[in-house]
Amino acid sequence: MKRLLLLLLVLSLLFSCQKGDGKNDDRHLVLRYADNQPEYFPTTKAARYFAELVYARTDGKIDIRVYGNGELGGEVQCLQQIQFGGLDFARFSLGTLSAYYPKLNVLMLPYLYTDSDHMWRVLDGKIGDDFLSQVEEIGVFGLCWFDAGARSFYTRMPISSLEDMKGLLIRVQENDILSSMVSSLGADTVQIPYGDVYSALQMGKVDGAENNMPSYFYTGHFEPARYFFVDEHFRLPEMVVMSRAARNEIMELGPEYLEIVRECARESGLYERKLWKEEEQKAFAQLESLGVVFTFPSNEEQERIRRAMEVVYDDFTGENALLIDKIRSQ
Ligand code: GCU
Repeated sequence: MKRLLLLLLVLSLLFSCQKGDGKNDDRHLVLRYADNQPEYFPTTKAARYFAELVYARTDGKIDIRVYGNGELGGEVQCLQQIQFGGLDFARFSLGTLSAYYPKLNVLMLPYLYTDSDHMWRVLDGKIGDDFLSQVEEIGVFGLCWFDAGARSFYTRMPISSLEDMKGLLIRVQENDILSSMVSSLGADTVQIPYGDVYSALQMGKVDGAENNMPSYFYTGHFEPARYFFVDEHFRLPEMVVMSRAARNEIMELGPEYLEIVRECARESGLYERKLWKEEEQKAFAQLESLGVVFTFPSNEEQERIRRAMEVVYDDFTGENALLIDKIRSQ
């Protein structure tokens, strides 16, 4: 009798183990990724590339569906959704993310980087890595950085100097630090979600906005605002993040899956960077042929703008001042 009971116990243990393994093998995650840029924009293309890599390297166990065009909401809504687990991945401009995690402000100060290579030395190094892990403090996991070039002003009327900015109403992202940066030039600012900027420009509710060239081109903002003043006042890199809920689900599949996701995200970051360079040049050529008027400030004018915006640095003291020095010396 004892033997029989022992045999039954062993058999039932074996059976339950097999059942457990079987269940694990069948596990399959479908996760959602949001981007507010259109289908053929570098960031959205890179998101699809990320999804394809993950699918292939996990043998289809992690299936990431990419929703571009702001289909799942504007950046602010997506950030809130991702914090509460309603969304799994998203790409955010630091202009949005830093409103929720102000330590990031330091990375978007006016004229902080001498050029794009300088910014990449910072983001590819320890400073960039530290920020990717620190955003965990607001409940998201930083995966990689995307390029978003330098931002400049574009307006419904020609501008060519600092004086021309005075009294203009300029749209900025939903972030007070960006309002104060732009007001340091004497302009008035209004915070409007990205998806509503075209109509605000078209209806004359604002005199202008500021963004990188590919965004200006893809959104059609050049139609109502055809004067582009290439002052390149700041660079707002972008971060791809993952929700805590998605991270936990992936961990349940196994820690090796989390590593695959991280590695594919890093590769998609490099891919986006390459696409970005190409797209910046293409956008410039296309905009020129469409009659956009580009004004390149002289070195002196650029220097006056830089000095006017320097007041923003006064708020960055203590630890931040040290970090600014570190960034500048990279
Ligand atoms: C860039 C960025 C967007 C952001 C937009 C904005 O285009 O890629 O993610 O929403 O700037 O100005 O709001």
